[in-house]
Amino acid sequence: MDLKDKVVIITGATSGIGLACARVFGKAGARIWITGRSQVKLDETLLMLQKEGVTCAGGLCDASDPAQNEKMAKDVKDKFGTIDILINNAGISMRALFRDLDLKVFHQVMDINFWGSVYATKYCMDEIVKNKGAIIGISSINGFRGTPARTAYTASKFAMNGFFESLRTELMKLGVHVLVVCPGFTASNIRNNALMADGSQQKESPRDEEKMMTSEEVAEAILKALRKKKRDLVLTRQGKLASFLNKWVPGLMDKVVYNHMAREKDSPFK
Ligand SMILES: NC(=O)c1ccc[n+]([C@@H]2O[C@H](COP(=O)([O-])OP(=O)(O)OC[C@H]3O[C@@H](n4cnc5c(N)ncnc54)[C@H](OP(=O)(O)O)[C@@H]3O)[C@@H](O)[C@H]2O)c1
Repeated sequence: MDLKDKVVIITGATSGIGLACARVFGKAGARIWITGRSQVKLDETLLMLQKEGVTCAGGLCDASDPAQNEKMAKDVKDKFGTIDILINNAGISMRALFRDLDLKVFHQVMDINFWGSVYATKYCMDEIVKNKGAIIGISSINGFRGTPARTAYTASKFAMNGFFESLRTELMKLGVHVLVVCPGFTASNIRNNALMADGSQQKESPRDEEKMMTSEEVAEAILKALRKKKRDLVLTRQGKLASFLNKWVPGLMDKVVYNHMAREKDSPFK
């Protein structure tokens, strides 16, 4: 796909993978629309991208609010005339045992990660179908393999995978490309902003962010997968191994995942 002048919406693009996608897709010639929940962060990000030569604009949009998603699609059409590609990236994580977890936190994670993708896709769909464009879901390794103390996050990503697989098949004869991306551990703010049992933020990452794949590497891989019209993109060696082992020896994977996550700093289980 030639990205020159294509209109690309990236939800939640003020940091991490979303910001890196804005850079990478923008430098490939696309016109970029970014969203987030903070006007200050949005303005700073747009200024930074413009200085780097990216054609971009953006607007506030809380992914969990259907009306704000509807407005986002309208604003993008008003500004750029159409929508070619939607990257459903906005997301948050959580970390708590299910028995301790306030159900409000469970809802919040589902509302942003899963419902946010549904709303944005719904309101951008007609333009994307008209242009035979693409819909990308930024899921996770947790989209096919559960992790203890991440029940809400895992549920939201499994739901995303099911939604996009069904949609891909539904759109098969209309020329729309649906790509599901499952990144492994990637350096970003996701673990700092992850919600604890009571909904407060974790603030500090329990993992060594420097040893992870970078958000820029993830964004480059997404662009490559889009160009190759891939259905799925599973990232990191650890992620690919998890995918393989979970298919063939899921019982062994339960033990491996439990032991691995129990070793995390301040793990809520041992
Ligand atoms: N990093 C990883 O290890 C990893 C692994 C697998 C999958 N992923 C997925 O990758 C995606 C991006 O995460 P990231 O790692 O880049 O995290 P990040 O650095 O925390 O970025 C998340 C972005 O989403 C935005 N956001 C959060 N809640 C939002 C909401 N309600 N409405 C609109 N925007 C919202 C944030 O902006 P504001 O806070 O300003 O709104 C921020 O721009 C997520 O879907 C995540 O699940 C990440």
